[in-house]
Amino acid sequence: MVDKNRETFSGKLGFILACLGSAVGLGNIWMFPWRLGKYGGAAFLIPYFIFVFTLGVTGLTGEFAFGRSKKAGSLKGIRDVFKEKKLPFGKFVSIVPTLAVAGTLIFYSIVAGWVIRYFCTSLKGNFNSLDIPSYFNSFVGSKESIAWHFLAMAIIVGVVILGVTKGIEKINKIIMPSLFFIFIILMIRTLTLPGAIDGVKYLFVPDWSYLFKPITWVMALGQAFFTVSLNGAGMVVYGSYLKKDEDILSSVVNIAIFDTISALLASLIIIPAAFAFGLDQSAGPSLLFITVPYIFKSMPLGYIFSILFFISVVFAAISSGINMLEASSEAFIAQFKMKRSKSVVIVGAIAFILGIALDIDMAKFGACADFVTIYLAPIGAMVTAIVFFWVYGTDNALQDINEGSEKPLGVWFKPVAKYLYIFGVAAVLVLGIIYNGIG
Ligand code: TRP
Repeated sequence: MVDKNRETFSGKLGFILACLGSAVGLGNIWMFPWRLGKYGGAAFLIPYFIFVFTLGVTGLTGEFAFGRSKKAGSLKGIRDVFKEKKLPFGKFVSIVPTLAVAGTLIFYSIVAGWVIRYFCTSLKGNFNSLDIPSYFNSFVGSKESIAWHFLAMAIIVGVVILGVTKGIEKINKIIMPSLFFIFIILMIRTLTLPGAIDGVKYLFVPDWSYLFKPITWVMALGQAFFTVSLNGAGMVVYGSYLKKDEDILSSVVNIAIFDTISALLASLIIIPAAFAFGLDQSAGPSLLFITVPYIFKSMPLGYIFSILFFISVVFAAISSGINMLEASSEAFIAQFKMKRSKSVVIVGAIAFILGIALDIDMAKFGACADFVTIYLAPIGAMVTAIVFFWVYGTDNALQDINEGSEKPLGVWFKPVAKYLYIFGVAAVLVLGIIYNGIG
């Protein structure tokens, strides 16, 4: 049964910005800059571009087209394909991608809470008087973070409840352009700091020897996969609100390009500034929550720039969380036939309550984040891809992808989707297990 009255994005721009909201997240801010510098500077960009524009673009194209064709998120979409083909276990298989996206919501909303707290600290101008490492370490993993986690989830719920056009599209139309605008201002500020040029060199002078190291390719692969939010559910649900006459491929290319630009801007903000102040740039939480506040502490007019920086990180985190909650609640609606508002509140509340155990225990937090990113997300992406490209079939898939497209994809796309992409996702899974996390 195809849902004829399903809400849609108002147009291509709204769709692209909502998807960018999902794609531009903490991965762009706390992982990409560090990896770019660490794995050979500009040399890293080569495998990164290759993977984003093959694996990433194919994956996004497939997820959007699947959602649009079934007018459903991955839970119902997969079930419908299984029913059509009279295959067993559709109910069971269809849950996997949804679990991946819901699992991501559980730990991501916690970090969104930390970011909101940092934004508030920057508003009060408190970084100046704080010992930042002990501030961060005493707060994460403690009860104090629960309230911020709650606030983050409440904001996400508040937006998703309003629906696709009035909530998701509207907020992303405001915050995504603002994020880019702020990033450009911040980049100009940090690049004009004395000594910043060394950071630019560190980022962009290529060390080609890294192209011969497997780790460079492995990290570029993981980054490319995570940054475009592939997990078999998140992007499917946004695709399900896309009109038939919109051009999927051109939207996908825009999303990939702007997502990459945002990651490059984040790199040009953080790394040169860290060099200018002689700070160590490690990856992950400490880059964002310890190094960055130091930068603003040391910078003239740092008060204002820290507010701008952390509000844009709040935008990045919340807009990704919105996609995760939308995908999870849409599945809940499909399963339990409940009203949107009720489902969104229930799913948000469950994700928040489950997350409390991680709020107060950083070991559990790490274990959950690893489990979701190493296993669930690649397996979820794999399930959706196999169902769309193999079970539903590449002939049908290609037809759906090309609907509304000015430059239809040729038949060459079929083996790319059916073999290359599936192989790429399998590589993300296997390498993630071997390297203990690459996304
Ligand atoms: N792309 C986001 C980032 O770079 C994170 C992300 C991964 C995500 N999987 C997702 C966002 C699923 C929304 C839905 O941080």
